[in-house]
Amino acid sequence: MDNCRTIIPMRLLKLSTRLRVLVFVVIALGFVAFFSYNLEGSVLSKKEKLDITSRIPMKGPGKPPILSYWISGSEGEGKKIFRLLKAVYHPRNRYLLHLDAGSRASERNELARLVRTEKVFRAFSNIEVMGSSYAVDRTASSVVAATLHGAAVMLKIWKDWDWFITLSASDYPIVTQDDLLHAFTSLPRDRNFIDHTSDLGWKEFERFDKIIVDPSLYMDKNLKYFVASETRPTPDAFRIFTGSPWVILSRAFVEQCIYSLDNLPRKLLMYFTNVAYAAESYFQTVICNSPEFQNTTINNDLRYFVWDNPPALEPHFLNLSDYRAMVDSGAAFARRFVEDDPIIRKLDNEVLKRMPNGVSYGKWCSGPTRDQKGNKLDACSTWGDINSVKPRATGKKLRRLIARLVWDETARSNQCKV
Ligand SMILES: *[C@@H]1O[C@H](CO)[C@@H](O)[C@H](O)[C@H]1NC(C)=O
Ligand SMILES: *[C@@H]1O[C@H](CO)[C@@H](O)[C@H](O)[C@H]1NC(C)=O
Repeated sequence: MDNCRTIIPMRLLKLSTRLRVLVFVVIALGFVAFFSYNLEGSVLSKKEKLDITSRIPMKGPGKPPILSYWISGSEGEGKKIFRLLKAVYHPRNRYLLHLDAGSRASERNELARLVRTEKVFRAFSNIEVMGSSYAVDRTASSVVAATLHGAAVMLKIWKDWDWFITLSASDYPIVTQDDLLHAFTSLPRDRNFIDHTSDLGWKEFERFDKIIVDPSLYMDKNLKYFVASETRPTPDAFRIFTGSPWVILSRAFVEQCIYSLDNLPRKLLMYFTNVAYAAESYFQTVICNSPEFQNTTINNDLRYFVWDNPPALEPHFLNLSDYRAMVDSGAAFARRFVEDDPIIRKLDNEVLKRMPNGVSYGKWCSGPTRDQKGNKLDACSTWGDINSVKPRATGKKLRRLIARLVWDETARSNQCKV
């Protein structure tokens, strides 16, 4: 949020010593004024201000991981994103919010303003809103570029996260962050949740032989892709895998995609430029063609959704009739939801224990839950230990599910085979 990186022009460095001292003093005073302004501007109590170390997540064996969420949306989705952010909030995690070119600058500023108004968000400074924007077509390849950009930014600004999770404004969690962190605590940090198959079926022709052009890669506005009249053969230099576009990637694999000296991630990025729904295949194909990573895949996206019959391009909007099956599914997230649908309110009340406008409840919330009159209070407006979590039955169930998935993968060793 607050950008305090300063660039000192070269010329300054050549000034006389006395001037240098003066310049230093002025800059130092500037910093002092800046930080004291920030502290005065906040509503943190003295004790909370002093406790900076307690706001840095501890890492190590037995400690929960740190998750980094890339949450993206488009025009009119700022409010939805903000609600989703609160629903998946935990002080350990890191969040990067992105509104694409469909949204106006005022909408992005408003989202950044909303983030700044929350005391907890300011105290932990673990949320960033992307200030600039660019066009994205979620059904083409520009969304892969946007996801990689989000991942690169998160690698750069936060050195401590373990997993990268992609969410859209239409997603919502169906477990608390305490549940999810608990389920991931004993998982080897190199695992990647990537739903995948090499059985392309009808997609072979429709997706991979057809050539598309995605104008959102080179125009300012979000535009829909168009299909070229030529077709091309299915590649034989690598094997294509396809699956769910919603992934949970290990830090090591994200680094592979962004920094690797191996040419595969870049080569595939260029190939997928002309593939419709590239987000359903890019990470799948990179990981399954990388011998050093393919054994780290878990063939599951931990998401719950329901297809209409016959299936449309997107799963159907979940409503109250789906509630039981959704909560019992054992998944971590569900999609898609209509803004403020009763099913979301029910999730807030019953699963996330989220006060109206509050964040999802966790063990770190240390405030009183009721006042003397028995009225509910937002326990998360003050905080305690952020290094321990308290899972409920759903969290334990998710941990068992993940343990079973990991065991299945290693026992059958058929990752990237089917
Ligand atoms: C991945 O698993 C296969 C099958 O168990 C094994 O042959 C291969 O050596 C493993 N690769 C790595 C990099 O560990
Ligand atoms: C939920 O959606 C399904 C399918 O769209 C519909 O048949 C059902 O009546 C809806 N239920 C409620 C409670 O709105």
